[in-house]
Amino acid sequence: MRKQIAAANWKMNLTLQQAEQLMDELIAIPLQLTDHQVAVFGVPFPYLIPIKSKIAGKSNLSIAAQNCYNKNSGAYTGEVSAPMLKSIDVDYVILGHSERREYFEETHAMLAEKINVCFEAGLKPIFCCGEPLQIREAGTEKTYVETQLADSLFHLSAEQLTGFIIAYEPIWAIGTGKTASNEQAQEMHAHIRSVLASKYGNDIANSISILYGGSVKANNAKEIFAQPDVDGGLVGGASLVATDFAAIINSLK
Ligand code: 13P
Repeated sequence: MRKQIAAANWKMNLTLQQAEQLMDELIAIPLQLTDHQVAVFGVPFPYLIPIKSKIAGKSNLSIAAQNCYNKNSGAYTGEVSAPMLKSIDVDYVILGHSERREYFEETHAMLAEKINVCFEAGLKPIFCCGEPLQIREAGTEKTYVETQLADSLFHLSAEQLTGFIIAYEPIWAIGTGKTASNEQAQEMHAHIRSVLASKYGNDIANSISILYGGSVKANNAKEIFAQPDVDGGLVGGASLVATDFAAIINSLK
């Protein structure tokens, strides 16, 4: 069975003290994670090492960076590279979040490069895609997402895409409290899988975890995750509350 993943995206929130308290509270709650389930904490760069130490020895808990640069080293003041993240034992990197595409003008080509440097370093990308409201209203969301996948991922080999992680996050559902309906999520996830299947074959498409993101909460996670092509979630606001995120982790199938 492909991995079922509850990934927290803390974004630019919390002081270190608040972050450590959140992790202490969360770890104290019983989590029912089986072998094919993982909880991933996407934390700000300065907290990667201290939060990693909080989860040391706990199998099925991992950390993620929220970004990395598309070059390995050099005169790029303020940036963080994939080899740097690997050297502190980071496992995952969230790439192509809509906030990075919008505010930092990340292009499909730049994201393809970021994915390459992650693979070279041995990091697992969590690649985000998803359409804005006007595209959804125009009814062209499937081709929009297809282009995001094709332009940033389709240079990868079948081997690289085996077990890959994609997060579908419709922009109109992020931080708005407006979740995609179960049917809308399932329809897009099935579409993403079919696009991957036509390019790479069914076995590889079926190995890819496709997470849903956009107003996932403790009270709606179970029904969204129950959809056959939804393999967990990428969670913003609700991941900042220990009891809520624990309930979301415990909603994985
Ligand atoms: P919310 O869960 O706050 O809507 O954020 C979703 C998101 O952007 C996760 O990456």
